[in-house]
This record gives sequence, structure tokens and C-alpha cells, in this order.
Amino acid sequence: MSPSFTPATKSYSIASIPADGIGPEVVEAGVEVLKALADQLQSFKLEFTDYDWSSETYKKTGKYIPDGGLEQLKKHDAILFGAVGAPDVPDHISLWGLRLAICQPFQQYANVRPTRVLPGTQSPLRNCKEGDLDWVIIRENSEGEYAGQGGRSHRGCAWETATEVSIFTRHAITRLMRFAFETARSRPRKLLTVVTKSNAQRNGMVLWDEVAAEVAGEFPDVTVDKMLVDAMTTRMVLKPETIDTIVATNLHADILSDLAAALAGSIGIAPTSNLDPTREHPSMFEPIHGSAFDITGKGVANPVATFWTAAEMLAWLGEKEAADRLMESVERVCVSGVMTADLGGSATTKEVTAAVVADILGGKAAKTA
Ligand code: NAI
Ligand code: MG
Repeated sequence: MSPSFTPATKSYSIASIPADGIGPEVVEAGVEVLKALADQLQSFKLEFTDYDWSSETYKKTGKYIPDGGLEQLKKHDAILFGAVGAPDVPDHISLWGLRLAICQPFQQYANVRPTRVLPGTQSPLRNCKEGDLDWVIIRENSEGEYAGQGGRSHRGCAWETATEVSIFTRHAITRLMRFAFETARSRPRKLLTVVTKSNAQRNGMVLWDEVAAEVAGEFPDVTVDKMLVDAMTTRMVLKPETIDTIVATNLHADILSDLAAALAGSIGIAPTSNLDPTREHPSMFEPIHGSAFDITGKGVANPVATFWTAAEMLAWLGEKEAADRLMESVERVCVSGVMTADLGGSATTKEVTAAVVADILGGKAAKTA
């Protein structure tokens, strides 16, 4: 028999955790689009395993993640996550029970949040022209203000006390800064803004600035500037074109990235990646938005954030061409006007999804009803 030269098709194992609220609606849409893309391109395969870890599971069993759950999760190449949070579970229980319970042990220390105004959509900023707002926010995702250190004493007394201690380590700042500088270097403008608050916070934030300055020495080709977080909010609104890559602490970047998403048009389009750059653990990909109780079950959630999230996941897995192809389809569908209400359109989640699938498969974007 003659040897076969057909290259082996790569296959990726994806864990999907839709969880709460609109999470299942947008993850279902994301999986549908990813399957269409894999079918169309035939250059890779995707296998999905669903995990029903959610606030419902928590209410039934007392746990978000069952015993041995993280070991199971570790076997996958990537995790596609929806959103966690339910009206009848305190938010700190749901967030720490599921999302942070994955991010922290898996050392997904770099949280990456690209933002730009998609063609066919509009920024609420009056003078924002196409290309003015094209940013990547790198968020420290393992320590800082969300390190989980602190305590409460004298509960219920008038002298009740609580502490919320921020942790900043040279190790974690250095690895995050290197990742941020590398990201800035990979983009055409090679421009990094280090966000800080070292005027008021004179320990952790000063270490943050010092390590940033040291790491900057390794990247002479990257232009770096430093900005206090409060001033950063005004710069984002008034001079979006002066910004490219941003690095900030866990709390600061959490807030700045919601602002960024709103300035780009809607929180319904923004993706985020929780990366373990060492690739020892699988990385986790999710839309920025939460479980959105106000629109859950109405079929109007914008699936674009999850599509962009899926594209980021493909790029991380090494399927950059497929990722670009997916974003091109999403952009064409936006330009065609098939958009959900948050972007000013009247399409449903399913209609936007069908339009993106049709574009991927080479058909015409489905018309809105
Ligand atoms: P949210 O992001 O769920 O909703 C904020 C607003 O944006 C709502 O008006 C919502 O309808 C709208 N929105 C969000 N996603 C949308 C989409 N895809 N399409 C159209 N509109 C969309 O934030 P909120 O209300 O502060 O939190 C709700 C719950 O979600 C809470 O329990 C919170 O803890 C949780 N949450 C979870 C996150 C996660 O799992 N990573 C992130 C943020 C919040
Ligand atoms: Mg947030």
C-alpha cells in the first residue's frame, strides 16, 4: 500500500459550562456556530463535553463543582464558560463557587479583554470614528484585590469589623507584565499603558509600578506610559485613539473593561479569555457579561460576545485562520443589520446565530423578521 499523506485532522476537546441566566442561551449559540465552522473548514474537529455546574446545582447539592470536578476539567484543551449568578444566591458565593474556583487553581493569571467598535455598530461616543477605539485590556487574574484574603469579626455588633486585603507579589506582577508587554509588542502600535493608583496606595501599587518599569527594560521596542486609574476613565472617554494595550490590576481592569465594552457599543459583544500562558492547565473563555436576569429566557441575549469569545478560543488553540473567519462572518452579519436590541436592532438570539451560521456556510445572512 502506498503511504498516505493526508495530514491528521487536529481534534480539540472543549468543556462547556453554560451555568446561569443567559449563559445557556449564548453558549448554545456559540457551540452551534463553532460546529458550523468546523464542518465548513474540515481542518480541525471539536468535541464538546457539557458540565451542568450552575447555581441550580448548587441549590440542590450545596456545591457548584462536584468532588473531582477540577480533575475532569483539566483533561480538556479549553473551557467555554457562560455566566454565573442567580438572584437567590449571594454573588460572592456564586462567583467564588464556580468562576474563581476554576481561574485560581488553574493559574489563569492573564485575563485578556479585546474591545473594538464592530463594523455596522456604533460607539456612544459622539466623535468616535472607526479604528479610534481598538484596545486590549490585560487584567491581573490571580491575586490583587480579589486574592480572597481578609476576615470579619464581631458580627452584628456596632463595632463589627471586616478586612479585604490586597495581595501583590513580585512573581505574579512580573509574569503578568511580561504577558502584557508581549501583547503590546504583537500589535501594530506597540503601545502599553500601565494603570496604577500608586499615589494613594503606597505599597502594593508602588511594587506594581516598579516591576512594570523593570520589565519595560526587556521590551525597548514597546512605548510605555503610566496612568492613574481615575484619570484613565476620562482618557478612555475623551481620547480613545491615544490608547492601545492596557495592563491593570484585578479590580481596576474589572471596572475599566465594563466601561470599555460600553464605549464599544454594548456589553453584549465583549469577550474575555482567562489564560494560563504556561499551558499547564486549560484556559477558560467567556463573554464579559453576567447572567442578565432581566432578559433571561426572552431569547434576546446578544450572542456576539460568545462568538467573539469562541474566536479567541480558536486563536489560543492555534486555529487563527478559523478565528479570523468566524470574526469576518460576525462582522458581515453586523453590517447587514441583523443585530439584537442592545445594539439597536430587533433580531433574536436565534436569528443572529442563524445569520452567522449561514454566512459561515457561504449562504446569505438570514433576514430579520
Ligand atoms: P450583567 O452583565 O448580567 O447585565 C448587565 C446589563 O447588561 C443588563 O441590563 C443585561 O440585560 C445587559 N446584558 C448583559 N449581557 C447581555 C447580552 N449578551 N445581550 C444583551 N444585553 C446584555 O451584569 P449584572 O446585572 O451586574 O449581573 C447579573 C449577575 O451576573 C450577577 O449575579 C453577577 O454576579 C453575575 N455576573 C457574572 C459574571 C461572570 O460569570 N463572569 C460577570 C458579571 C456578572
Ligand atoms: Mg466585571
